[in-house]
Amino acid sequence: MVPSAKLFILLTSLTLIISFSIAQTSFKPKALVLPITKDTSSSTTQYITQIKQRTPLVPINLTLDLGGGYFWVNCEKGYVSSTSKPVLCASSQCSLFNSHSCSDQNICGRSPTNTVTGVSTFGDIHSDIVSVQSTNGNYSGRFVSVPNLLFICGSNVVQKGLAKSVKGMVGLGRTKVSFPSQFSSAFSFKNKFAICLGTSNGVLFFGDGPYLLNFDESKVLIFTPLLTNPVSTAPSSFLGEKSVEYFIGVKSIKVSDKNVNLNTTLLSIDKNGFGGTKISTVNPYTIMETSIYKAVSNAFVKALRVSTVTPVAPFGTCFAIQNVSSSRMGPDVPSIDLVLQNDVVWNIIGANSMVSIYEKNVICLGFVDAGSDFAKDSQVGFVVGGSKPMTSIIIGAHQLENNLLQFDLDTSRLGFRSLFLEHDNCGNFNFTSSI
Ligand SMILES: *[C@@H]1O[C@H](CO)[C@@H](O)[C@H](O)[C@H]1NC(C)=O
Ligand SMILES: *[C@@H]1O[C@H](CO)[C@@H](O)[C@H](O)[C@H]1NC(C)=O
Ligand SMILES: *[C@@H]1O[C@H](CO)[C@@H](O)[C@H](O)[C@H]1NC(C)=O
Ligand SMILES: *[C@@H]1O[C@H](CO)[C@@H](O)[C@H](O)[C@H]1NC(C)=O
Ligand SMILES: *[C@@H]1O[C@H](CO)[C@@H](O)[C@H](O)[C@H]1NC(C)=O
Repeated sequence: MVPSAKLFILLTSLTLIISFSIAQTSFKPKALVLPITKDTSSSTTQYITQIKQRTPLVPINLTLDLGGGYFWVNCEKGYVSSTSKPVLCASSQCSLFNSHSCSDQNICGRSPTNTVTGVSTFGDIHSDIVSVQSTNGNYSGRFVSVPNLLFICGSNVVQKGLAKSVKGMVGLGRTKVSFPSQFSSAFSFKNKFAICLGTSNGVLFFGDGPYLLNFDESKVLIFTPLLTNPVSTAPSSFLGEKSVEYFIGVKSIKVSDKNVNLNTTLLSIDKNGFGGTKISTVNPYTIMETSIYKAVSNAFVKALRVSTVTPVAPFGTCFAIQNVSSSRMGPDVPSIDLVLQNDVVWNIIGANSMVSIYEKNVICLGFVDAGSDFAKDSQVGFVVGGSKPMTSIIIGAHQLENNLLQFDLDTSRLGFRSLFLEHDNCGNFNFTSSI
């Protein structure tokens, strides 16, 4: 045998041995799953998830921010880990953050932002091990780890205003370093994720379906394109950065199947980034530009045919609770339809449109007027509100509860479905591990 052939055989068998041992030790999950809990202990409702991070691993609670670009965690207090590493300036990891700053110690930086309060400071970028539960879509499976998951170091100041047990925030937005991007590249699965906020428990999937609750809800989604706002609406973005949030194209709004007369210019995004409709998990309720709010509220009151009572903040349109009956779909009220491209409809049923305030004996249309004083209130989350808000409609968390939303980042498409229509809910995922 010629030497090169011997070498070839040797290399081939080595490759086989190596790939065999990798196959034995590394399990490739198809998808990952995280629990979501609704937290009402602080002034704003927050949706919290939990991951395990650091060496030794510790559970870390984090507030979810659908439109946030980054994962940040407070490093100032209680961060102990033997595997935490700084990301150096001019490294390829640093460039993923579109960073404009470098510390004296040559550590790459990007501002961690608390999108609940709007507070932002400076922060170093680090990486550390993170452990998350895998899933086959039907139930949860073994924990898998990502050894060098990138994050920004936050501080006590940025953490302030988050729910009590929370140490940071998880952004699911369209950056190269959000959880969906980092998980899909770590395990080579599709850059898709699905979020299902519950009235108490919910679920977050990374990767493709099935998404088994009572049924495989990935089969019943309806789709609409995700739009990109050319201008960021976030407090700590750089000039010229496009938005990493999720916008959809609302073309018109119907109340009880009747078209509401709106200034449609406000529904599209202009070149300065004004207008349009985005989806948010940090705003507890939908916020609408004043003229849209008034038109929708007037149409709603007219269709319901019940007289209004003194409103309870942050809402502007309330009714006596005994005047509104209930159905399986929540309060029995006129349906509100967001009409999207190609006449696809996002139907907001009573359980999502109404908020009951039992102490006051009222039930309110769960939307907030961006121009009202209440829109500046901490209860509705941080918004650049006022008479000319940057975004005309922010679909808030109450309107998302028990809806499954799938974000497909490769095809830029949103799949959605109200689980009420399926006699299902977001708390039905089986988190009982099979290991
Ligand atoms: C998941 O559940 C569905 C229906 O309940 C079943 O058809 C499918 O075989 C299950 N898949 C796995 C991997 O358990
Ligand atoms: C995280 O939040 C859950 C649910 O809100 C709570 O039960 C748990 O104690 C918290 N864990 C930590 C480590 O803060
Ligand atoms: C509609 O909204 C646009 C954008 O804010 C505004 O410039 C225009 O004057 C409005 N039109 C009407 C009829 O109010
Ligand atoms: C609603 O409730 C109030 C107080 O209970 C009552 O006076 C009123 O007649 C009711 N009906 C309508 C249509 O508002
Ligand atoms: C949850 O999944 C486990 C398998 O991991 C199974 O043994 C158990 O019966 C399931 N529980 C329910 C309520 O379906």
